[in-house]
Amino acid sequence: MGTDLTAVINLDLPGATISRHIYGHFAEHLGRCIYGGFWVGEDSDVPNVGGIRSDVVAALRAIDIPNLRWPGGCFADDYHWRDGVGPRDERPRMVNSHWGDVVEDNSFGTQEFMALCELLGADPYVSGNVGSGSVREMSEWIEYLTRGDDSPMASLRREHGRDAPWRVPFWGIGNEAWGCGGNLRAEQFASLARQYATYVREHAGNDVYRIAAGANVDDFHWTETLMRSFDALEDGEGRTAPFQGISLHYYTMTGPWSDKGSATEFGTDEWYRALARAAHMEHLLERHGAVMDRYDPKKRVGLVVDEWGTWWNVEPGTNPGFLYQQNTLRDAVVASRHFDAFHRHAGRVVMANIAQTVNVLQSMILTDPETDALVLTPTYHVFAMNTGHHDAAALDVHWRGEVPTSAVDDVELPTLSASASTRGDTALVSLTNLDVEQDRTVVLDLRGRDLLEHSAQVLTGPTLNAHNTAAQPDAVAPARHDGVRPHPRGLEVDLPAHSYVTVSLDLA
Ligand code: AHR
Repeated sequence: MGTDLTAVINLDLPGATISRHIYGHFAEHLGRCIYGGFWVGEDSDVPNVGGIRSDVVAALRAIDIPNLRWPGGCFADDYHWRDGVGPRDERPRMVNSHWGDVVEDNSFGTQEFMALCELLGADPYVSGNVGSGSVREMSEWIEYLTRGDDSPMASLRREHGRDAPWRVPFWGIGNEAWGCGGNLRAEQFASLARQYATYVREHAGNDVYRIAAGANVDDFHWTETLMRSFDALEDGEGRTAPFQGISLHYYTMTGPWSDKGSATEFGTDEWYRALARAAHMEHLLERHGAVMDRYDPKKRVGLVVDEWGTWWNVEPGTNPGFLYQQNTLRDAVVASRHFDAFHRHAGRVVMANIAQTVNVLQSMILTDPETDALVLTPTYHVFAMNTGHHDAAALDVHWRGEVPTSAVDDVELPTLSASASTRGDTALVSLTNLDVEQDRTVVLDLRGRDLLEHSAQVLTGPTLNAHNTAAQPDAVAPARHDGVRPHPRGLEVDLPAHSYVTVSLDLA
């Protein structure tokens, strides 16, 4: 065992609420995410409800999926919603120019997406088209979705077979407006975001949280420009106008965009480099948060990290435009490291959406195009182990002793990461040992409340690139962790090398 370290946790000092929406998801019309991933059609041999895969729904319900962002991504700014409603065989086709240049037949559209959200029990997050769509188009879309009377769009919805309006609590105003969403300047987009957001109206009591497309990585000027564009931020305690949140996108890769690194073929250097790049998310939250604090010290505007995760070179032999990649233990640890950062910044980060849910980038689920077998990825298991953090109050974790580090390029990467939260008479502590070889033992110094019971889970694998396949679906899966012992200060926890451990506490 390596250095003993103590993590001090004051169980009686709850901080900001960790919104369950930090555990949000993203489904784009990209590769096999929608078609083959979520949607197989009603005539498929794969068990489905109205064309939606039942096994995928069950797997996502099991991790309490809180929301789903759709239809993109870059696709959203090419998408015209009227093409995806009405009888399926009459829907026009289009070219998905961003992703594989394939023909999209629009068989999965608004009604199918809303049915999917209902099956999942997840809140819809609809991403509206600013890049090539009109203000009227966006305004009519939310009317179609949420209006209850006999307005033109509500009547059209009824003609298409749905009587009752839906609830749509989240709405995106464009996507990556600095790039695929229009190549706009920050100032130009800020004006458009104000205009479009104005017409995303609240019908029939549907409260909608509007999210303006935000910065790419470290474009702090973009964040500052959007913050400057709010009306009277200092006034009152209510909602900000004309939008309520701004987004941020950041992906983890070990190389440049032209050669992002292999998902499965990597050594120790790429393990640490990926984790150092993942840890960079914390720095981005601090810096973007500092800009936002200058204009909004009461944190009324939410930061929405609506695209994050690993982006590797596509699996050899697959369509380069489909972004299909394997998912290893390294991806799981990238995810746990992100969640620690999101938990620590829960006062500002109100939502996050991993990219993407099925068969694209850092997925929860992979499906086999030939056999239709479903595989849960190591990343899925981190989401499962963390459900206790949903809507819990964040707890500070203070390290006593020197946290070990590993040198990566020009940074020292701490090789232990932790976060904690409490809800009622329970608490959950998340601990990641990023070290490739070194097992660690840490003491949890639990203060302020009495500990009644504990249990723990561990996620690790025999190799850094261990991953799940249809032949070996549980190569990386959570197991009960017996390496937790009572200690005069609380608990002593063994953390195997390259592992993720959660400790659940019952409190008096
Ligand atoms: O998630 C894949 C793509 O990454 C999205 O379409 C886009 O928003 C981002 O560049």
